[in-house]
Amino acid sequence: MAKQITVLGTGYVGLVSSVGLADFGNTVTGVDLRQDIVDTLQSGTPTIYEIGLEDYLQRNLEAGRLSFTTDGAGAIADADIIFIAVGTPPGPDGHADLSQVERAARTVGENLNKYKVVVTKSTVPVGTNRRVQEIVAAASGRTPGEGFSVVSNPEFLREGKAVQDFFHPDRVVLGCEDTRAREYMEDVYRALYLIQTPFVWCNLETAELIKYASNAFLATKITFINQMANLAEAAGADIHTIARSMGMDGRISPKFLHPGPGYGGSCFPKDTKAIAATGDEFGVNMSVIKEVIRANDEQKTLTARKLLRLMGGSARDRTVAVLGLAFKAETDDVRESPAIDIVQELLLDGAHVRAFDPEAVENFKTALVGEGPFGGGLNSDLQERVAEAAAQRLTYCTDEFHALQGADALIIVTEWNAFRNLNLERAAALMTGRVIFDARNVLDPENVRARGFEYAGVGR
Ligand SMILES: NC(=O)c1ccc[n+]([C@@H]2O[C@H](COP(=O)([O-])OP(=O)(O)OC[C@H]3O[C@@H](n4cnc5c(N)ncnc54)[C@H](O)[C@@H]3O)[C@@H](O)[C@H]2O)c1
Repeated sequence: MAKQITVLGTGYVGLVSSVGLADFGNTVTGVDLRQDIVDTLQSGTPTIYEIGLEDYLQRNLEAGRLSFTTDGAGAIADADIIFIAVGTPPGPDGHADLSQVERAARTVGENLNKYKVVVTKSTVPVGTNRRVQEIVAAASGRTPGEGFSVVSNPEFLREGKAVQDFFHPDRVVLGCEDTRAREYMEDVYRALYLIQTPFVWCNLETAELIKYASNAFLATKITFINQMANLAEAAGADIHTIARSMGMDGRISPKFLHPGPGYGGSCFPKDTKAIAATGDEFGVNMSVIKEVIRANDEQKTLTARKLLRLMGGSARDRTVAVLGLAFKAETDDVRESPAIDIVQELLLDGAHVRAFDPEAVENFKTALVGEGPFGGGLNSDLQERVAEAAAQRLTYCTDEFHALQGADALIIVTEWNAFRNLNLERAAALMTGRVIFDARNVLDPENVRARGFEYAGVGR
């Protein structure tokens, strides 16, 4: 039977889940604290860039299965199931900041007028769902398992493929400890059952750790190939042939073996820090993950420094075209994007920067002076210097060719398809210099060199 669902938080995960759950036939109310987000979504316009999202949003709004509101209390009172999909940003010590989750749980408890299932979709450290249980119980006066149930249902969607991933997940993980809640969840995800998606039923702690283990492993795989690429480059080997051959081994798989400027995004950086902090809390030294965090920060630094080296040691008073600002292609998310570190480094070195991204320019403008460098927070002095330099020497361009005008060097930071097919003849005519640093290995080196450019990639 279709359910009445409320989703708290309509960011990447909450919005895609709201739209997807409505498309499964459930009636969904998406709740956000921000009126501007709610108004935009209710008018049928997505607040994030994701392929296919607009169609699904509009279709389900029109069908009357989906609506958005800031009235969390009302939406909770009406619901059978409440998904918590609020943010869990990193706290100053690496631990996940759980204040949004705790606040959402309290609001749920205060508005619990009948049995409901409370589902945590946010990525939360092991033990958090027990804490959600306590908060809801204290705020509602009801007993877990009888008055309400808590389910851990971590989300694995990839930005850029979020809609596709929602409808075709590799697996659905459900930390669920009573049969009534299980029946509710089976109803919610019936459409995925029918297409034989694997379901993993487990306890709350296991579900919580599956999410962190998966993200930490993927971050490790990326960092491993980045370091191997650095070695291949130094030794005169070709990382692409190495990675392809490694991937032919069924135990390894070819995915996540593409070298680049270091991972970024809203998940890997914060989730690796959080699992390392959780390990310390339990007295287990997650030394592999701690080294991954350090090596990834170093990779961002190495990328920026390599560009300066290619430019003869400094980019002072020279012009660099930066193509790609998002942390990866097909998204407008710039959280912890390597582009932030690279542009900061260039500006602090005295360069003029001409930057372009098909979707992420607006988000980048604020992130540039708020984050980094190299994974850390900018201290206020550096923040001021970057902001000042950006005002004088950073131009946001309307397309890749606009960015290339008068550039001494080009760096490709994000693997957007448009950059893979860059018109090199036009680039040569527009650029003053001849340096191309392809930090994603999206161009054909021979082709680039044949046009008279000095080409550098990663690990080849
Ligand atoms: N972004 C991803 O690719 C991704 C993938 C898997 C898991 N996750 C996890 O999902 C969670 C959400 O991530 P996100 O990227 O969607 O976050 P986000 O920051 O984009 O969105 C969170 C939203 O929640 C809203 N919010 C906060 N408190 C609220 C409350 N009490 N009631 C209603 N709305 C509230 C905020 O206004 C914001 O719009 C995080 O734990 C994240 O780690 C994210």
